[in-house]
Amino acid sequence: MGEETTKNVPVCQKKGELAPFAGALPPSRDTISDLLCRELIAAAEKAMSRAYAPYSNFFVGAALLATGKKVFTGCNIENAAFTPGICAERAAFAKAVSEGEREFTAIAVIGGKNGIPKDYTAPCGVCRQVMAEFCDPQKFYIILARSQDDYWLYRLDELFPMGFSPKNLS
Ligand code: THU
Repeated sequence: MGEETTKNVPVCQKKGELAPFAGALPPSRDTISDLLCRELIAAAEKAMSRAYAPYSNFFVGAALLATGKKVFTGCNIENAAFTPGICAERAAFAKAVSEGEREFTAIAVIGGKNGIPKDYTAPCGVCRQVMAEFCDPQKFYIILARSQDDYWLYRLDELFPMGFSPKNLS
């Protein structure tokens, strides 16, 4: 415990506040480090600025960390026909998988109306399903951020309990 645990305590837990909804991770050696979270949030913020969201004006950015350590970013890309629109998270997954990555550690998500994050942006159900396709729900971390100093860390199994996954078909 001791030193290592302290080093890996996410900022959000240091503030000692209640999670915005049940299940935010308690400080533990199993979580990812604060520095890594901040780096991913910074990349997600940059991606958010590239969002194409003329219909909702809700800008979202995501930064997906592959186990090979590469980071793939994504933004939401809307469409006049609405249904072809894609979320930031799935844009990041599409980039990563098409570059040969299939194993992932974490994703940071940030979003807000006109690009100003007022609340935490949790992935939609379809994006959670896509995460469950490639990620071990007990090992994949989802960082919901309003800024680099203000985020909550979740595991996929907390945000997507009892999900349908490739395991069901094996
Ligand atoms: N959106 C995302 O990109 N990710 C989320 O986690 C939630 C929603 C996008 C889809 C749409 O372009 C806009 O936000 C409003 O729903």
